Amino acid sequence: MLIDTVKTTPFTDQRPGTSGLRKKVKVFQEPHYLENYIAGIFLTLGEKAVKGETLVLGGDGRYFNREAIQIIIKMALAYGFGRIMVAKDGILSTPATSCVIRKHKALGGIILSASHNPGGKDGDFGIKYNISNGGPAPEKITESIFAASKTITEYKIAHLPDFPLDEIETFVLESGQEVAVFDGISDYVELMEDLFDFNLLKQAIKAGLKLKYDALHAVTSPYAKRIFEIELGAPEGSVINADPLPDFGGGHPDPNLTYAKELVGIMNGKDAPDLGAASDGDGDRNMILGKNFFVSPSDSLAVITANYGVAKAYKDGLFGIARSMPTSLAVDKVAEKLGLNVYETPTGWKFFGNLMDADKVTICGEESFGTGSNHVREKDGIWAILFWLNILASTKKSVAEIVKDHWAKFGRNYYSRHDYEAVDTSVANTMMENLRKQLADLKGQIFGDYQVAFADDFSYTDPIDGSVSEHQGIRVIFTDGSRIVYRISGTGTVGATIRIYLEKYEPDINKQDLEVQSALQSLAQIALELSQISKLSGKEKPDIIV
Ligand code: G1P
Ligand code: ZN
Repeated sequence: MLIDTVKTTPFTDQRPGTSGLRKKVKVFQEPHYLENYIAGIFLTLGEKAVKGETLVLGGDGRYFNREAIQIIIKMALAYGFGRIMVAKDGILSTPATSCVIRKHKALGGIILSASHNPGGKDGDFGIKYNISNGGPAPEKITESIFAASKTITEYKIAHLPDFPLDEIETFVLESGQEVAVFDGISDYVELMEDLFDFNLLKQAIKAGLKLKYDALHAVTSPYAKRIFEIELGAPEGSVINADPLPDFGGGHPDPNLTYAKELVGIMNGKDAPDLGAASDGDGDRNMILGKNFFVSPSDSLAVITANYGVAKAYKDGLFGIARSMPTSLAVDKVAEKLGLNVYETPTGWKFFGNLMDADKVTICGEESFGTGSNHVREKDGIWAILFWLNILASTKKSVAEIVKDHWAKFGRNYYSRHDYEAVDTSVANTMMENLRKQLADLKGQIFGDYQVAFADDFSYTDPIDGSVSEHQGIRVIFTDGSRIVYRISGTGTVGATIRIYLEKYEPDINKQDLEVQSALQSLAQIALELSQISKLSGKEKPDIIV
């Protein structure tokens, strides 16, 4: 095998964010841009360490997926990997990647995705490296990749023709190295069958339980078709928008009330099925809907935790729970009753990995439509939906009944996130800095009905490896348990996205029926006052309210 050594010049903007490196497709298409970053990954791992090892490779099928895969295969061969497992057609969801890395004892995997961000040639692209536990690389690895990408002067790439990816086949090279094109769907489906009683779900569907799943033209299309329609026998058409497209049909592959419009229309219509669900570009997020009813992701995490016993794999008990700091405290109420620890981590799934590896937590979740468990080391959209299907099948209640009964028992955490997008980065930083300066004085201050109990700049010490992550969001906590949290997004590709998270706890069953934004109105007002965001950003109101 001939290996080319290519001279290059470093880029300075390859610092990975919350979920790897994310940029516009056009940026990734610049000469050497992708190659530099990939070389940064392999150099960080070390050529000795990768020698003979297995690398898993796939993506969410977005524009540039196939081209990037060919480059990465050839570079992985040049840097000495023994076996490159590439998903057929390059299609591999994020949770499936995690599953395959673990099952096949790979050294790691590369996921090509920009998650829920739009695709197409003017859309976004992304790269994430996952380690041998199947989870996103921790910060010390991503920082070292960034450092390598800033100094790189050359990289290696095998001089080979492209590999066909449309048939399951293993190519063995003269060097003994292998490129194995594998079925990206089956390992994941088998894992789901281990976790949930497919017979029970099948029976419930046969007996009339109806679901509609919106694949949003993204990576979960083949997984959802196989699981819901083939394995569980839901009628054809239960999975919609089930053809993966490089531009996701021009939409945002983001499962929320704004972007999963077709599904929302169906669920609010008169023939709505019992469960409506959707996942995102790379299959790790989920949205759960009942008839005319939206389940907030924080509530979903709490309900899943409260009902853990219905699912085959969890009925013997849970180790503990983890949630990202901005995620609502609804799950904490459940954990308290169950006598379980709750770990509060910074935003991003990578912080859950150590806790799961150490058997400290079984179920984790984030407010950003992410829920999962220790079956893999990523959040998992289809897993969450199967869990809900299992809860519906076992309790025989509707989604709305399940959630309302839950609130009656544990109280309701009204919750919403207000996003200000494409804000000038320096403006966003100024706002955070101003807030930081106020922190010490906030304690005890009264704003209308609310009094500040505590305010800080969230910092996290990993209980397993002791690593410290600072400046993970500013939180203002009130004496009644209500909270305001401010963060700058780590996944945006244009300017800064400021996220303001609002939460209000309501234990009184008679006050649990308010519209969410009205319930949070005075907190939203306080959030504006403290941050002066409108004045600073020139934006009267948030661009997106979730
Ligand atoms: C967002 C979400 C976060 C999630 C990440 C990847 O990150 O807020 O919870 O882990 O996407 O899906 P952010 O843009 O807020 O940094
Ligand atoms: Zn995603």
